[in-house]
Amino acid sequence: MRRTLSLSVLSVVSVLALALGGCRNDMHHQAKIKPFRESTFFADGASARALPEGTVARGFLREDAALSRGQGPDGKFVEKIPVPITRALVLRGRERFDIYCSPCHGRTGEGQGMIVQRGFKRPMSYHIDRLRAERAGYFFDVMTNGFGQMSSYAAQVPPEDRWAIVAWIRTLQASHHMPKEFLLKEDEEKLSSSESK
Ligand code: HEC
Repeated sequence: MRRTLSLSVLSVVSVLALALGGCRNDMHHQAKIKPFRESTFFADGASARALPEGTVARGFLREDAALSRGQGPDGKFVEKIPVPITRALVLRGRERFDIYCSPCHGRTGEGQGMIVQRGFKRPMSYHIDRLRAERAGYFFDVMTNGFGQMSSYAAQVPPEDRWAIVAWIRTLQASHHMPKEFLLKEDEEKLSSSESK
């Protein structure tokens, strides 16, 4: 008896749920205020309250200036990458660079990416002396804040990945300026044959 009763209650509820499921009007026409729309609710005419000063979103506390801004205690850009440079970091940097930077800078950093070939301003090559001598923190800062026509990548690339990309840019730079004593014998031969051409 109890079972049949609960079954029939259940079926009434599901019929109601099905029937009411079709009424979407309520949700569409409820009283609500869209973000930043003015309202008469608060005295200042805004619809939302300002965040209390110093509010930090969960997971976004960035206290370490070197890691999160590329700056030392003196406010200057750090010379070196402030995280351990491992093979995994460099490979991660290559992957992220190929995704986010190579469309303009090209996969080897000369500045001949596909977007540039289609007319976007050509960035300077990473292999010029000025950028080879530049501090690690500077590259981090360009990604964080943008530079000239290049926009910020802070929203797409989290700080850890920005350092990985700096490590890859350093790798690309080294690949173009390898001291001769580090060359393999066969590469040295290739070099001298291309130089004599
Ligand atoms: C949409 C194209 C585009 C993308 C994508 C792009 N850049 Fe750039 N970048 C530029 C341009 C253009 C300049 C030169 C800006 C100018 O002179 O106005 C530049 C300049 C730079 C510079 C040189 C700053 C200097 O002092 O000369 C660095 C370093 C750099 N970008 C790094 C990056 C990194 C790292 C990424 C990936 C996270 C990236 N860029 C993604 C277009 C791009």
